[in-house]
Formats: sequence, C-alpha cells, structure tokens
Amino acid sequence: MGEKPAIKTIINGPFIVKGLTELIDSSGTTIQVKSPTILCRCGNSKSKPLCDGTHVMSGFKDYRIKVRDGRFKSYIGKEITIHDNRRICSHPGTCYLELPTVFDMNKCPWINPDGDTVERIIATIKKCHSGALSYTVNGENFDNFCDEPSIKVVKHGPYVVQGSVELIDQRQPVAKEHYCLCCCGRSKNEPFCDGTHLKRQLKDKQR
Ligand code: FES
Ligand code: FES
Repeated sequence: MGEKPAIKTIINGPFIVKGLTELIDSSGTTIQVKSPTILCRCGNSKSKPLCDGTHVMSGFKDYRIKVRDGRFKSYIGKEITIHDNRRICSHPGTCYLELPTVFDMNKCPWINPDGDTVERIIATIKKCHSGALSYTVNGENFDNFCDEPSIKVVKHGPYVVQGSVELIDQRQPVAKEHYCLCCCGRSKNEPFCDGTHLKRQLKDKQR
C-alpha cells in the first residue's frame, strides 16, 4: 500500500507533501511531482508552486493570530440550516455567484436558507473548498464531502486540499477532508488561507 497522503507545515517555511505524486493546476491539468514535494508557503519562490529556498533569504515568518477558527454562525431555515465560518473562507465567490438568492454579501443577514431549493443549496455548499460552509438537514450535520485525495494549485490563490490528506500542524482544519492552505505568506490565519491574497491582487492591479 502507498504512503498515506499528508502535508506537514514547516515553521516559517514550506509545506512538505508526502504520499501524493500529482498536483492539479487551475486548468485541471495534472502536474507530476515526486513524493515528498516541497510547496512554497511564503509566496516568493521563483519556481512556484515549488519552494526554491527563498523563504530563508526573505526571513518569512508564519505569523498566526490565535483563536481564528471562531465567527461561526448558523442560519436556520424551514428545511435546512446553513453553517458559516467566516474566518476560514478563501473568498472565491462561488456561493454568491451561483446562488445570489441565498448568499448575498450586500444583505444582512447575508445568508437566506429559504432562498432556493434544498438540493441547489446543498450542491453549492459542496463547492465550498475552504470548509467555511456546511449544513444540517433533519438533525444531521454534513461537513465532509470529498473522497479522492488531491491538491489543486489555484492561480493567484490558495492550495485547495481535498480528500483524506492529513495536515500535520498544531492547528487542524475545520473540515478534515477539504481545506485551503495559504500559498502567499500573507494570511493572518496560517496555515489556512483567509482571503488576504485577493486584497493583494487588487492593490497590484491599482498600481
Ligand atoms: S516557502 Fe520556500 S520559497 Fe516560499
Ligand atoms: S493564499 Fe494566502 S491568504 Fe489566500
């Protein structure tokens, strides 16, 4: 049997990936890699997504703010309760682009659990890669949706981890089998992406 897929966080350094010999890029193309593979976490490598050692020269520090898993809220509807954890959202916009009658950032509360059919709401929540969204139906909570272990390298965004890939870190993902790891070195919720990469892109575009 092959090695169990796992990602180990190196303090002030990269991610070491074991047990996986493929990554998936933004276009869905498979990239063959060796196991172990060393992925950049500081955002400064010239060989992204691989670490080239630049984090040592740049003095990268994986600054963490404690207790960032909070801000958990539940929105109770007639047939479904939607749970939301703002701290770990990587802000790809999938939910509000797909179901604006349920997820609308311009409204308060921003989630309306009665805004569409339960089936469509569940299908959208299952596309939430970070684990920020989950749901309860008939008293049963659903927050694990993925089987096949994989790591997707999102263009200008985080590493999207799916399936059973153990995270070896003092912090653990809210949903064990789908979570987003920061690859830009700027998250305040290391090792998880907190969407800060989007602000940086916006600033770069405005220059
Ligand atoms: S973590 Fe090594 S170059 Fe970014
Ligand atoms: S990839 Fe660093 S905050 Fe999202």
